[in-house]
Amino acid sequence: MKLYKKEGNILQVLSFPNENAEKGDYLMVEDSDAGKALIAQIIDVQFAAVPGVLEELLRTLPDGGESIQGEDIDPMDIAPHITYIQDASLLICKIRATFENEALSPSSSWLPSRSQSTIKRLSIPTLLKLAKIEGKHPIILGGTKDSSLLTIDADAVDGTLNIITGKKGCGKSHVSKLLMVNLLGYGATVVVFDLNGEYSSLGLSVDGKRNMYYNKIHALIPSQTFKVAIDQLHLNVVMGILVHALHLPGTSAREFRRIWKQLRDKGELTLSNLGEAIRNLNCNQHVRDALSSRYHSLVNSGFFTDKPAEAALLDECLLKAKDQGGALIVNLKNTSNIDRQIVVEYVLGKLVDSLSSWKLKAVFLFAEEAHLYLRETYWDDIVTRMRHFGIFTTFITNQPDTIRESIYRQADNIFLFNFTNEHDLEVVSRAARVDAETVRSIARDLPPHHCLTLGRVVHDFPIVARVRALDLKTMGETRLFFKDMN
Ligand SMILES: Nc1ncnc2c1ncn2[C@@H]1O[C@H](COP(=O)(O)OP(=O)(O)O)[C@@H](O)[C@H]1O
Ligand SMILES: [Mg+2]
Repeated sequence: MKLYKKEGNILQVLSFPNENAEKGDYLMVEDSDAGKALIAQIIDVQFAAVPGVLEELLRTLPDGGESIQGEDIDPMDIAPHITYIQDASLLICKIRATFENEALSPSSSWLPSRSQSTIKRLSIPTLLKLAKIEGKHPIILGGTKDSSLLTIDADAVDGTLNIITGKKGCGKSHVSKLLMVNLLGYGATVVVFDLNGEYSSLGLSVDGKRNMYYNKIHALIPSQTFKVAIDQLHLNVVMGILVHALHLPGTSAREFRRIWKQLRDKGELTLSNLGEAIRNLNCNQHVRDALSSRYHSLVNSGFFTDKPAEAALLDECLLKAKDQGGALIVNLKNTSNIDRQIVVEYVLGKLVDSLSSWKLKAVFLFAEEAHLYLRETYWDDIVTRMRHFGIFTTFITNQPDTIRESIYRQADNIFLFNFTNEHDLEVVSRAARVDAETVRSIARDLPPHHCLTLGRVVHDFPIVARVRALDLKTMGETRLFFKDMN
């Protein structure tokens, strides 16, 4: 390989057919005279423009190519070289760091010598070692091209905001489960908004046997195994549900608050008493209608109960999860749109309560297709207020434009799977931790189950890995008509 050009932080490197360089690989451009090296990643492989390359190569021949002139047609036997050159490729590389005095720095401002520099491939294990991508809480993400493991540190997802995105079926939920069970293994508290009902059986291995996570996975099915006792509900949580999930206007909300307090003070807070009080309310017809329709939504959701024995589940699970680590899987698969918002509003309200009173230290939240249940104002809340309370969110989606721009700008880690659609790539490239060229060029060619990892977990050295398989029962398989038919 030979250094050809440098423009800003882009290097162009000539590579010959036997050198076998691919997109995503790292190169080390070592200038021994300067005592330092550039670390660059190949983001595109193009055909080399032959005249330019030829000139370049001839210049490096011992006599500068002078002896080529003369009577003979091919005195230097250059013809085979020309074919060789025709197959040469131009590697477009993005400079990621400078290596000097055994340390990496992000600088790319110096120019390595064209004649003296040696260029070689930098293997991923060496890169991981140089960049010190390791730690006390390893999570094996998968294998890289040179058959080494990509291991990240759980500490690098602590306190962070993460995005997992890519086309349908390429392995997003899979990597989310991988991260989730590993965090669980380190004793973390995890909450999953499980839109497709595919996380509940992670306590079983593929053959159906219980695994080490079995006692830590708490599957909650709203309105079935997951209900809330009305007299244990905090007023601010109910108001959150009414105002945000059920869009109750301000005046009616004030009335509701009054009724609720009255019943609670008398110790008569039940669903039927609440309905009765609304029916007998002496007020404007519109207000009564507004309250009455919200009341029916609450009742119809089946999520609320008068019997404390049926409820208290969330608190219990949170308590267990706090002591030994645990995951609350909120199964939203068969929940209607409106009920989903009620449940999510309740769970988030409850988490904020538990975290602000230090009943819980921190929660890792995994949210699949969050735009289907997360209310408008939560998006900004998640990057600011919620994060401050200790809710660290990972969004998983195959529609990147459903995630707010502020989330991309603040995201600490991105696990990017294949995208071919220009618009999707454009959206993802708004992320602050990555440059648009890398996203566009590498994501487009990722095979299924391969993920480009970006951000803090890889110390901003984007790395492609094949995500490892998991021996977990997922129930996430697509339901098909022709499967198992002969
Ligand atoms: N790295 C992997 N190794 C083995 N199987 C995988 C891997 N990633 C995904 N799968 C399988 O491929 C299918 C689709 O993956 P999934 O994570 O559900 O895709 P997505 O959430 O992106 O739609 C699932 O059956 C899953 O078990
Ligand atoms: Mg999925």
